[in-house]
Amino acid sequence: MQIPFLLILTLVVSALAHLGRHPSPRDVAHHAALSMMCADNVGQVGNARYKRNLARRWHDGNTTTVEVTTEAPYYEIIHNDTYVLTPEVTQGPYVWPRSQTLRQDMTEGQPGVPLWLDVGVVDMATCQPLPNVLVDFWHCNATGSYSSFTGLSPDTPFPQLLDKLGIPMSTFEIGKTDLHTDNTTFLRGMWPTDKNGVMEMKTIFPGFYVLRTIHIHVQVHTNWTLHANGTIKTANTVSTGQIYFNEDLVDKLMAIEPYVSHTAINRTTNAADAVFPYDFGNEYNPVVSVVPIDGEDVTKGMVGYITIGVDTNAVEYDDNNVGNP
Ligand SMILES: *[C@@H]1O[C@H](CO)[C@@H](O)[C@H](O)[C@H]1NC(C)=O
Ligand SMILES: *[C@@H]1O[C@H](CO)[C@@H](O)[C@H](O)[C@H]1NC(C)=O
Ligand SMILES: *[C@@H]1O[C@H](CO)[C@@H](O)[C@H](O)[C@H]1NC(C)=O
Ligand SMILES: *[C@@H]1O[C@H](CO)[C@@H](O)[C@H](O)[C@H]1NC(C)=O
Ligand SMILES: *[C@@H]1O[C@H](CO)[C@@H](O)[C@H](O)[C@H]1NC(C)=O
Ligand SMILES: *[C@@H]1O[C@H](CO)[C@@H](O)[C@H](O)[C@H]1NC(C)=O
Ligand SMILES: *[C@@H]1O[C@H](CO)[C@@H](O)[C@H](O)[C@H]1NC(C)=O
Repeated sequence: MQIPFLLILTLVVSALAHLGRHPSPRDVAHHAALSMMCADNVGQVGNARYKRNLARRWHDGNTTTVEVTTEAPYYEIIHNDTYVLTPEVTQGPYVWPRSQTLRQDMTEGQPGVPLWLDVGVVDMATCQPLPNVLVDFWHCNATGSYSSFTGLSPDTPFPQLLDKLGIPMSTFEIGKTDLHTDNTTFLRGMWPTDKNGVMEMKTIFPGFYVLRTIHIHVQVHTNWTLHANGTIKTANTVSTGQIYFNEDLVDKLMAIEPYVSHTAINRTTNAADAVFPYDFGNEYNPVVSVVPIDGEDVTKGMVGYITIGVDTNAVEYDDNNVGNP
């Protein structure tokens, strides 16, 4: 039986709405006050010079030092954005903290166009770059599958997936209802910002799955400690959002392999996406700026940049680590 598209969309939107956090009016007022205050500081993180060799150190009870050598930086000067508070948007049903590990390349051999994603984090209370906060990403592969959930079809609308699993939509809770099917970790990873409040993650350009435009989930964690395997042990989550790409760019990439082989469903565009508009809250721009690595052809790979503005006092109810006993 065919479920009408609008009904599916309504179900998805209402599910997402229910599953998101509901900030109190006080939170909302506080966020509104913070959201625009750094406009005059435009260009500060933006002018941070990117370092060729990064050396990072983290403490997880034991002291471990990780030396990381990145490939050549593609920006000398990182993109200039107006700083506004990044809106809180649902973490979605594929959040799975136990598979999020500390690393600077989360590709794990997944085919796709290389993407070096640079994120600058700004503390909206001080308008200053925020060093040593963990920036956490997860996204689907070139044909729409999320690691740890590879047993769930990327082409089946979420309500139907739940139906197949015998889980009533009304009982489903993001981060609580366990839908994971395996322990794969591809295209999930996190890395701390450097002293300039900037970090870089190597990944591939995401593909798409049913009813969602192409997006990457991003969280920012402060006060973090890790398990020995690089997953989060304790942390304060201060931002949960999604970032997107320009439609013209997406069109170019979806026309080539391996993306073009995903023909079972039609791609949802930014304009048709149910979550996309929410990411423009606080006048934030959630669209990643992109530069081709060879200066010409994005299909050869690209560097993306986006700024995230956080309120370090707005610690989210930490249901994010439920997947990580
Ligand atoms: C940043 O961009 C804005 C808008 O394009 C521009 O007005 C401003 O001069 C730029 N600031 C710096 C420091 O480049
Ligand atoms: C430190 O490392 C040891 C050996 O790997 C481990 O047994 C211990 O639990 C670690 N301590 C903390 C606080 O993580
Ligand atoms: C890492 O360790 C945590 C805590 O023991 C565990 O729950 C998680 O499954 C492990 N994750 C990976 C990717 O090994
Ligand atoms: C994406 O992941 C799924 C599940 O592991 C896999 O079957 C599929 O081949 C992957 N896509 C590509 C393009 O490799
Ligand atoms: C994942 O790894 C854990 C710990 O190693 C194991 O107990 C579990 O059976 C594995 N599989 C799934 C589907 O979680
Ligand atoms: C930071 O984390 C530690 C360990 O989990 C906790 O005891 C402390 O209260 C946290 N600090 C803040 C400011 O949240
Ligand atoms: C994709 O959209 C086209 C045009 O609306 C339609 O003809 C086609 O059946 C759709 N394909 C799928 C797989 O839904």
